[in-house]
Amino acid sequence: MSATPIINRLVVVGLGLIGSSLAAAAREKGLAKEVIGISRRASTVEIAVKAGIIDRGEDTVAAVAAELGEGDMLVIGVPTLTVPAVLQDCANLLTVDVTITDVASVKGSVMDAAIDIYGQLPSQFVPGHPIAGSEKSGVTAANSNLFIDHRVILTPDTSTADKHIQLVAALWTGAGATVSSMARKEHDEILAATSHLPHFLAYSLVDTLAAMGDNREIFRYAAGGFRDFTRIAASDPVMWRDIALANRESILTILDQVMDNFKEMRSAIDSGDADYMMSVFTRARDARNHFGQILEQQALQGGIQSPMVEKISNYRVKPGGNAVGDIRVPGDKSMSHRSIMLGSLAEGLTEVTGFLEGEDSLATLQSFRDMGVVIQGPEQGRVAINGVGLHGLKAPGKPLYLGNSGTSIRLLSGLLAGQAFDVELTGDASLSGRPMGRVADPLREMGAVIETAEGGRPPLKIKGGQKLTPIDYQMPMASAQVKSCVLLAGLYAEGETSVVEPAPTRDHTERMLRGFGYSVTTDGSKASLRGGGSLTATRIDVPADISSAAFFMVAAAIVPGSNIVLRHVGVNPTRVGVINILRQMGTSIELFNETEVGGEPVADIRVQYGELKGINIPEDQVPLAIDEFPVLFVAAACAEGLTVLTGAEELRVKESDRIQSMADGLVTLGIDAQSTPDGIRIQGGQLGSGQVHSHDDHRIAMAFTIAALRATGEILVHDCNNVATSFPNFINLARQVGIDLQREMLGD
Ligand code: S3P
Repeated sequence: MSATPIINRLVVVGLGLIGSSLAAAAREKGLAKEVIGISRRASTVEIAVKAGIIDRGEDTVAAVAAELGEGDMLVIGVPTLTVPAVLQDCANLLTVDVTITDVASVKGSVMDAAIDIYGQLPSQFVPGHPIAGSEKSGVTAANSNLFIDHRVILTPDTSTADKHIQLVAALWTGAGATVSSMARKEHDEILAATSHLPHFLAYSLVDTLAAMGDNREIFRYAAGGFRDFTRIAASDPVMWRDIALANRESILTILDQVMDNFKEMRSAIDSGDADYMMSVFTRARDARNHFGQILEQQALQGGIQSPMVEKISNYRVKPGGNAVGDIRVPGDKSMSHRSIMLGSLAEGLTEVTGFLEGEDSLATLQSFRDMGVVIQGPEQGRVAINGVGLHGLKAPGKPLYLGNSGTSIRLLSGLLAGQAFDVELTGDASLSGRPMGRVADPLREMGAVIETAEGGRPPLKIKGGQKLTPIDYQMPMASAQVKSCVLLAGLYAEGETSVVEPAPTRDHTERMLRGFGYSVTTDGSKASLRGGGSLTATRIDVPADISSAAFFMVAAAIVPGSNIVLRHVGVNPTRVGVINILRQMGTSIELFNETEVGGEPVADIRVQYGELKGINIPEDQVPLAIDEFPVLFVAAACAEGLTVLTGAEELRVKESDRIQSMADGLVTLGIDAQSTPDGIRIQGGQLGSGQVHSHDDHRIAMAFTIAALRATGEILVHDCNNVATSFPNFINLARQVGIDLQREMLGD
């Protein structure tokens, strides 16, 4: 029993499964001073009293109405279509002080009924829907634990009074549920797709089979799949009839989509279209696996993730800790993206190992699935891509969503500029603020038709059916993404396309194209290819990402007594700036087991502590270490003397403004760090404790986690969700080398 009840009298109208379970929970947990049940059936009231579910019962609202006032609550727990009749009683009998809520599965129809009855939505009415249930029904199935860890969605309006919302939320929280709110329309659409439709499909399948001859016998042979799929066909028919009538429009919309899909599946089966089947089955299986964890955690039964339910995670890192271990960090992000892109455009089956299962590369993978490419996996870094050839992509049915990934959107814009179909590329808030003129400009010079949002930002709308002409492009900035974008567009242009870069940038596109049998020539700073060829499927072994390894290199570089071995790391000369810079600062770094895998140099790397000294970072190292600067700034903070970076203005247009994000965080931690337009000046010192912000940037979050190794107190890093974009098992590996890192979920 809780010490202080939050509600005075709790009246539950309708003692079905949900109503009686809520009454039982309220009574058991002491949430109300008195729990009163209302049911027209005397026998139901009798059972409920005997079972200790309610304190007392009545047969009508009228029988208790006079007793109710401020601090009392009436819960309408009757089937959806009966809710208006109870609301009418409420309007006739209750004062404006009594809190009213309901539990119906459809919110639009209930709220319309309230408006009809009251003339407007009454401020005391808080529409609600507990997403919990069972195929059992009635008072005898009451279960006081039914709502624990389940979600309750409230759909109040602007006119709903706050105090009533608070009281209803407190009741559900007290019963063990998690409460969130949503607009009524969104609620009804989501539930139509994730709950209502599956019930109708289950009813319909069982009914079809039951009607086959007189032979219910076939159920004898039904195995687990049938049982799993049809479990919900044992649910309460009245409830589901009401839901079908009340949520008609949303249900019809999704039902039509599924029926269209069924028709296509029927004709694929009829014509033996194995490719169609494989593409639907693999897409669906992967989507199901992807959502599997969410499905288990969330109470949205069979549901989809709503943006509202995503939790924000912070990292709390204790000071001190070791830097000792022998680890392999996940696959290289740049190569993972390119393996999917080129594998999709190749002819034949490309098999990839070591693929990075991070959100960025998965966004690329998903967008090729959306364009009809059959891709199996990823499963433990293995992906198999059934290439469709340079001209085999299909128009996606919706805009391609690329999340946080700049590489995806920029490389895809080149690759899609020469397709026959229109396409729109979108992303999250961070990506939507990043400059795309740098790719749109050269593509337009090639004849592409591309629209951007204001200021050259995403979304990008690319018009299909354009004939591309080759260009000889002098890149204004050192960017591998721009170089790759132009070369990929060049595959579709007639003649030779060239890109000249102002400084060497990563050359994975050039190397991988050659791996697929496509000729790319490099002459100094110029890379060229001729359009109109074809790519032949190949095997790709993606090495560990040096950009992820960099966090552990710096960990070892700043902790006396450290010793970290990093296995199978890609050490392409265009990526090793971090090694060069750390060595110059005094870190001991040894490369061994050096080999070449699929045209890319790979090595094991041992990093050990050496006293760090501040340096002037040579500008020619900037593009070679472009993603590693956040953590290199942490090394600079731990070094003796001043470190100066110049010529790095590109850092200001990454996932965040990395110069400012790092300068702000370092200053918070007590370091003298001054940002300059194209770099930063960091005076080595003692890192203190404090709270810093990642600015939704994965590399900022991980850099400050590493900083804690040398801090005097705890560091709390806010908003670390995006670490999953590039380094899904960062937390485990960090702990493995001895960093004391806890993840906190906001709202837990
Ligand atoms: C990348 C190129 C770099 C890098 C990014 C990945 C690539 O971006 O920062 O993380 O895979 O081509 P820029 O081309 O903008 O320098």
